[in-house]
Order: sequence, then structure tokens, then C-alpha cells
Amino acid sequence: MTANKTVLITGTSSGIGKAAVKLFQASGWNVVATMRTPEKETELQQLDRVLVTALDVTKQESIEEAIAKGVAKFGTIDVLINNAGFGMMGLIEASSEELMQRIFDVNVFGVVRTTKAILPHFRARGEGLIVNVSSMVGRACFPFQALYHATKHALEGFTEDSQYELNPLGIRVKLVEPGGVATDFLTSLEQTGDGGIADYKDSLEKYFLAVQAYAEKLSTPEQIAQVVFEAATDNSDQLRYWAGEDAKQLLAARKAMNDRDFYQMIAEQFGVQ
Ligand SMILES: NC(=O)c1ccc[n+]([C@@H]2O[C@H](COP(=O)([O-])OP(=O)(O)OC[C@H]3O[C@@H](n4cnc5c(N)ncnc54)[C@H](OP(=O)(O)O)[C@@H]3O)[C@@H](O)[C@H]2O)c1
Repeated sequence: MTANKTVLITGTSSGIGKAAVKLFQASGWNVVATMRTPEKETELQQLDRVLVTALDVTKQESIEEAIAKGVAKFGTIDVLINNAGFGMMGLIEASSEELMQRIFDVNVFGVVRTTKAILPHFRARGEGLIVNVSSMVGRACFPFQALYHATKHALEGFTEDSQYELNPLGIRVKLVEPGGVATDFLTSLEQTGDGGIADYKDSLEKYFLAVQAYAEKLSTPEQIAQVVFEAATDNSDQLRYWAGEDAKQLLAARKAMNDRDFYQMIAEQFGVQ
């Protein structure tokens, strides 16, 4: 793709989304940088060709308004990047109904809503590209993040399926699958705690030790934004992009190993056997 195309990105207040705004802008793109609280944003507001505007992926109306504002300002939207999302770790038994509903509402239905909202625009133009920020855990699981991993698996299925529906209309879809990234995501992970259930104590302790050791493998948000940019601009029909050395290693192992050996490897790595 060439300069002066327009991208709309969700969840740009921090992390991968914010890094992606800066990269696309620096590469000559118009950017609709959307977030829940644009009034708090000061840095992106200063950039040329960047429209900072409100979008909450749980609110259909705010999605439609952000798209309309982007089209009014830049004429068209060429690429939608569904990046907004949050993670959680903790016990299935200790997960509240509210958290279960909210994580699917943001990480899965949020993407479905933005996709539904942009499709009339893309269909009218006979082209468009949607890049969904998934995770390596959309393809391979760790312990104690069952609900978060379930959302990313759902996102993978939604995206993989949507290619059959949308490709014939000139609309392409892509998945970026980052490994661990040093962003607010890791500090803001919603934790369910141990629910006061002693049976999980040993496993949880070993798990948290393994998670701490993982810190050295994290990518930067800028490295992941680079892969998002590549997915948006390489003009290929490649569906999946592994992002980060840890993701490449894990997903290559997932492909190469049989199920039983892979599950055994993960259980050993996290000390949960
Ligand atoms: N960090 C990792 O290790 C990692 C690994 C693999 C995949 N990912 C994925 O990468 C994406 C970006 O995460 P990040 O690591 O950059 O974390 P981050 O810095 O916490 O960014 C997440 C963004 O999502 C936004 N968001 C949350 N709920 C929203 C809603 N209802 N509507 C609109 N925006 C909402 C947040 O906005 P607020 O500021 O308003 O909360 C924030 O801008 C997520 O989809 C995440 O699952 C992250």
C-alpha cells in the first residue's frame, strides 16, 4: 500500500495500539486513533493526520460515530485494526459472571461489532482490510488464563471463518499473534485470585514463578506494531502473523509436536503436573 491511506485503530491509549498509531503516522498514513477516553490523550493529539476520537468497542453507537468521523475527515477508511482488548488470569472457579461476560464483550464481540460497522463502507468500495490483534494464546494455551485464551481462540475462529465470507467481496482479513509484550496489559491483567480454594495453591505458586521468569522474553509494543504494519501493507493473502520471538518458538512447537507432547511440555514449563 502507498501513503495517504487511512487506518482506524481501536485501543490506542497505550501499548501496541499507541505504537501502531505512531508507526502508521510516521509512514505517511492518515490515522483514526480511537480510545475510550480521548480527553486524556495528549501525545497523539499533536500529530499531523491523526484524528483522536472516542470509541468503546462495547458500544455500537460509539463505533459507528468514530467510523463516520474518520470518513468525514479523511474521505475513506482503508484498514481497520482491531487491537482493543484486555487479559485476565486466575481460577475458573473464582471467575465472576461479570468478568466472564465483560472479557468476551470486549475481546470477541467488540471485534464483531467493529467488523459489522465497517463492512458497509468496505463493500461500497469493493475493498478493505481488517487486521485483528489476537495472541499466540489464540493457538496454544498456558494454565490459569482459560477465559482470556478462550476469547482469543474465539477471535481466531471468527477471523478464519470471515475470510470465506469477505474475500469474494475484495475484503481481506488478517490475524497478528503476539507473544508476551511489555505493555500496560501485563500490569492491568484482571486477576481472580485463588477464590480461597487451597487445592490450587501449589499449582498457582509454581505458575507465578514461571510467569516471573518469562519477563525476559517480552517484546516491545513497537516490535509488535511493526508486524501489524507489515500485515496491513504487504498486499498478501497471508492470514496469520506470528509476532515476537517467543510466539515464533511456541507456535512452531505447536505445529511440529503432537498434542500430547505439546501439552506435556507446557505443563512441565509451568510446573502444573
Ligand atoms: N501485552 C501482551 O502480552 C499481549 C500479548 C498478546 C496479545 N495482546 C493483545 O494486544 C492487544 C493490545 O494490548 P496491549 O498489550 O497493547 O495492552 P494495553 O496497553 O493494556 O492496551 C489495551 C488497549 O485496549 C483498550 N480497551 C480496553 N477495553 C476497551 C473497550 N471496551 N473499548 C475500547 N478500547 C478498550 C485499552 O483502553 P483503556 O486505556 O481505555 O483501558 C487500551 O488502549 C490486546 O488485544 C491484547 O489482548 C497483548
